[in-house]
Amino acid sequence: MKHLIDPTDLTLEEIDEILKLAEDIMADRPAYAEVAKGKKLATLFFEPSTRTRLSFEASMLELGGSVIGFSSANSSSAAKGESVADTARTIEKYADIIAMRHPKEGAPLVASMNVDIPVINAGDGGHLHPTQTLTDLLTIKETKGRLDNLTIGFCGDLKFGRTVHSLIKQLSRYENIHFILISPNELQVPDYIKEEVLDKNGADYREVERMEEVMDQLDILYMTRVQRERFFNEADYIRLKDSYILNLEKLENAKEDLKIMHPLPRVNEISVEVDKDPRAVYFDQAEYGKFVRMALMMKLLGLTK
Ligand code: CP
Repeated sequence: MKHLIDPTDLTLEEIDEILKLAEDIMADRPAYAEVAKGKKLATLFFEPSTRTRLSFEASMLELGGSVIGFSSANSSSAAKGESVADTARTIEKYADIIAMRHPKEGAPLVASMNVDIPVINAGDGGHLHPTQTLTDLLTIKETKGRLDNLTIGFCGDLKFGRTVHSLIKQLSRYENIHFILISPNELQVPDYIKEEVLDKNGADYREVERMEEVMDQLDILYMTRVQRERFFNEADYIRLKDSYILNLEKLENAKEDLKIMHPLPRVNEISVEVDKDPRAVYFDQAEYGKFVRMALMMKLLGLTK
């Protein structure tokens, strides 16, 4: 386990170990306060972020390590035309581990091929977001008590949503998961996910356009934002951006033990009135992200308590 570029870089056993370590950290935070003393994390963010970058940084600081990095391409030498490979080779001289977000699919993979320190994909274009997937798995485990025998509805922008692609890829490796893919026609899950992930794993899935028709069947509702930054045409974004707005009325038929997740940031797709519903776990999800990133970095750096 050297880099984390794709969620399937981790075996199910390794994921289980990371989740168990995250749970141990949550239960006894002082015991981990110095395990990364002397270690440096570099956060190389060529694209905006609140949760991923700051939770990575908070994670390393809570483990007793330190952090360097940049939060936009414009504040790095990428703005002068430096390649991802050269940036990574330089940062390798300054840090022990890299977390990279980039608008181009495959950029963290290129970085990982050019350095001898661990590289973590913190989101590459509309492709994958494996640490969000670990965050989502920990959230599901903590709030539902299991990672199998679940009906999960993904709702919103399933075409460009890298968190959705990553989580489908991961959950299709667990037993008896039923996927309900809720989106407008234009924002359906890409064919390569259907063919190479869902069909290949024999996963049970169906596609619908209206969340109301499946709400009573869901154990988890995973809402997503329609992402303005991924559209080539502003008019298409305007037309599709409010396709789904979850409110308390739409939750009337939902199960009592439904969990509502969202990788965040949200725009309009979940009304703020839903925040106080006990089934809404998206801000807890953001917190789980910090603990699971602590566990991941410990594993990649070979650190123990
Ligand atoms: N979930 C997530 O990736 O959020 P940020 O874009 O704020 O990092």
